[in-house]
Amino acid sequence: MKTFPDGFRWLQHHLDAGEQKTLLSGIRGIIAATPLYRPAMPRTGKPFSVQMTNCGTLGWVSDKERGYRYQATHPVTGQQWLPIPDQLQKLWADVAEFPAPPEACLINYYGSNNKMGSHTDSDEQTFDAPVVSISLGDTATFHVGGSKRTDPKHRIRLQSGDVAVLGGASRRAYHGIDRVFANSSALLPEGGRINLTLRRVTAC
Ligand code: SIN
Ligand code: MN
Repeated sequence: MKTFPDGFRWLQHHLDAGEQKTLLSGIRGIIAATPLYRPAMPRTGKPFSVQMTNCGTLGWVSDKERGYRYQATHPVTGQQWLPIPDQLQKLWADVAEFPAPPEACLINYYGSNNKMGSHTDSDEQTFDAPVVSISLGDTATFHVGGSKRTDPKHRIRLQSGDVAVLGGASRRAYHGIDRVFANSSALLPEGGRINLTLRRVTAC
């Protein structure tokens, strides 16, 4: 039987409808100031299908020349990232079971045909803290496997308001998004899905 990797937690309906709306309006403000852009794969320069921006002291970015990395500024506009909203700081404090606050919040926007290939989150200097992932908008099939790409994968449907915590062994597990179900949520009038991932980047 396939089981979740150790340290993986799925908190279904963690945010109620009102909390999702409040969070979305904060994220929309961040996107208005520090816009979504389309990163590119290291070396090949192939564009991601997902659009991204960040908030926090550090943001995760990628381009052909310099690859995956964290930096304090938006790669297109050069602006400093805005702070992580208090609502997300509180959510981290409630679920992360980690003594220090998150430094990075990656904001991913998926259109209904977008996916994210299987990968591990490995660009941080420390893996002691979990990755806390929040879903808003359309439902998506998320997979989480083991530390090897070929390990069996567990698939779940993440709905708007769900939170997934990748801690312990699952912090280094392969994961990704197989599909997004169009029109499965009314939260985003334009459709699609926003995923927020909160992370520590440096050791405390
Ligand atoms: C990610 O791994 O950065 C995003 C996962 C998700 O969209 O749920
Ligand atoms: Mn990831």
